[in-house]
Amino acid sequence: MNHRTRILALAALLALAASCGQPQKPSTVGTTPEVERRVEQLLSQMTLAEKVGQMNQVSAGGPVSNYADALRAGQIGSILNEVDPGRINEYQRICVEESRLGIPLLVGRDVIHGFHTVFPIPLGLAATFDPALVEEGARVASVEATAQGIRWTFSPMLDIARDPRWGRIAEGSGEDTWLDARMGEAMVRGYQGAQWDATSMAACVKHFVGYGAAEGGRDYNSTFLTERQLRNVYLPPFEAAVRAGAMTLMTSFNDNDGVPSTGNRFVVKDVLRGEWGFDGLVVTDWDSMGEMIAHGFGADRKEVARQAIDAGVDMDMMTYGYISHLEELVRSGAVKQSAIDDAVRNILRVKIMLGLFENPYVDVEAAAPLQYAPAHLEAARRTAEESAVLLKNDGVLPLSADKVRTILVTGPMADAPHDQLGTWAFDGQKEHTVTPLQALRERFPGRVVYVPGLKYTREHKDRFDEVVAVARRADVVLAFLGEEAILSGEAHSLADLNLMGSQSELLAALRSAGKPVVATVMAGRPLTIERDLPNCGALLYAFHPGTMGGPALVNLIFGDATPSGKTPVTFLRTVGQVPLYYNHNMTGRPYNGETLLADIEPEAGQTSLGNTSYYLDYGAYPLFPFGYGLSYTSFAYSGIALDKGEYPVDGTVKVSFTLSNTGSRDGTEVAQLYVRDLVGSVTRPVRELKGFRRISLRAGESRTVEMELPVAELAFWGLDGVKKVEPGEFQLWVAGDSASGEPVSFIVR
Ligand code: GLC
Repeated sequence: MNHRTRILALAALLALAASCGQPQKPSTVGTTPEVERRVEQLLSQMTLAEKVGQMNQVSAGGPVSNYADALRAGQIGSILNEVDPGRINEYQRICVEESRLGIPLLVGRDVIHGFHTVFPIPLGLAATFDPALVEEGARVASVEATAQGIRWTFSPMLDIARDPRWGRIAEGSGEDTWLDARMGEAMVRGYQGAQWDATSMAACVKHFVGYGAAEGGRDYNSTFLTERQLRNVYLPPFEAAVRAGAMTLMTSFNDNDGVPSTGNRFVVKDVLRGEWGFDGLVVTDWDSMGEMIAHGFGADRKEVARQAIDAGVDMDMMTYGYISHLEELVRSGAVKQSAIDDAVRNILRVKIMLGLFENPYVDVEAAAPLQYAPAHLEAARRTAEESAVLLKNDGVLPLSADKVRTILVTGPMADAPHDQLGTWAFDGQKEHTVTPLQALRERFPGRVVYVPGLKYTREHKDRFDEVVAVARRADVVLAFLGEEAILSGEAHSLADLNLMGSQSELLAALRSAGKPVVATVMAGRPLTIERDLPNCGALLYAFHPGTMGGPALVNLIFGDATPSGKTPVTFLRTVGQVPLYYNHNMTGRPYNGETLLADIEPEAGQTSLGNTSYYLDYGAYPLFPFGYGLSYTSFAYSGIALDKGEYPVDGTVKVSFTLSNTGSRDGTEVAQLYVRDLVGSVTRPVRELKGFRRISLRAGESRTVEMELPVAELAFWGLDGVKKVEPGEFQLWVAGDSASGEPVSFIVR
């Protein structure tokens, strides 16, 4: 056998080993030899048409009969948007009992922040800085959804968002990579469960990747992220979720640097599959395969189907590109049979691991009592309490129930059961929502006067005589403002982030009544509320708080619960500051708060004014920084110390600090650990979150706390395109937000 023949034989052997479906790296989804045996055994029986059928996902809903023939023929591998357990059982019955191989369907749904019991929107979940609580909520969602036959959720959404004009900032965990990663891990654990059983719902990490960097904050718009930005900021949360065992990922709509994600071999095949060893399922976003034609990336549906399978995408959501063209592409040799087999392995692996072959059906009767179970509602309330962020308090909060007899409740969000649920709450029934008005009336019968002032958040009005007159007679005014649910979420970007309609005018009018005013804002994004702050004594920010938002907010306002939420995104002074986020680079001329327009004399002529990176009219500081949030008590950090001054690259930094509750009420602080790499082969952010801890202290209590930071967490992709820790000097903060605290230094050798 000559040399060339030997090489060819070796290559064939390697290909055979690879083609037998054994993941070449440790399985990220946790497969087993038994699962793999079953995958191979089933795959060996399948025709090409049946294989391609598994790669086809169809949006259902409506009469099952519409799909019965395709199901029997094995042309559908997954459905989404069917939630009725009886109809889901019928879909499964046709597949299992009437198709040739009896392969059950994978039934998916956007269970984004709760199924029937709706939790705060994911941006609010992030504001809790409480992964354990978020995991609990995801578990509740799984118990409710799987009981109805939904075994796949298109969540968590981990798109880093630094532009609040982008409506989908509501659906993610905000601007920070570390917080986003911790939230994603928590949701994956919650959805999938500690072990595989009938309540396990496959997570789907989305949108892979970079979607939140849409130019101009306009949804679906192009992104231009460098590989270094992808690797240092946008990819790590996805990798963390994959390492947490996420079963599936979804490709994103955007083209990044000219390449739509659904056809992007680099991110899907090279990074996700090659570097991370992901052996779960990759699904397109809704028709994102077909949209590659609009992008101008592929000429027709056949071409974009080829591009998607070539990139490593397993399942086609609603383009019908795979079902229409893959067989022909394989027969023509344009697509290898092995590519189809690999995709089908990933799909069968998920179905087998979910136990769908053993238990394809649900007990319809048993599903109903699980929905909105008291324990679920209680978890939703606790989460809504922790997700609210107190941005201002001149002392008016917490209210004392003894001292306020007449309570004026006003504002378009005071009794908005649908809007309070926020975006992507398809299955949250507004009849179950408890609004602030309902909660207040229940708690203070006969003492609540309700005058909306505005019927909905976009309403314009010139005068507020009626509500102001009532305010004059009340002891306190509770104004509930914000955004209707439709104003954030997919395809709902905004160019103006002020409170819409005449909400600000309503607040100003209420202030003129001369009584204490407490404003609560329920929104899907950080709005620009600087002009509203003077018109209220306190402002509580509740990212659409969900089903139990009313009781949660009333508990916070009356002190039964103490605010502990922190901003997961930067709050801008004006939309013109976009993008403004805490973990920015220093630049060569960092802004340090100097001169603004107001300080410039008329006809000042040419001066060397400023010369730093800022805006003459608004400066470059935010209204509220990332990680900010007040309590009803106060906290002080002291004695921040490191166990050493120098660390090896494989060492661990041990930080100790004393946190004191210096106020008169018990409270919980989110202590945040930030670092800065002072000099790198490329410029590095001025701060990066590398840890946080929720610490509850009684009034007057002090506690010394220790946190650990593996030096490895300081690694980044540098000039040489390699991820590593670069020795040198670092600064470290432990503080209550991203703009506070004094640094301590250490060296990495
Ligand atoms: C939508 C969204 C995606 C969602 C999918 C299915 O267009 O982009 O997040 O999971 O379609 O509803």
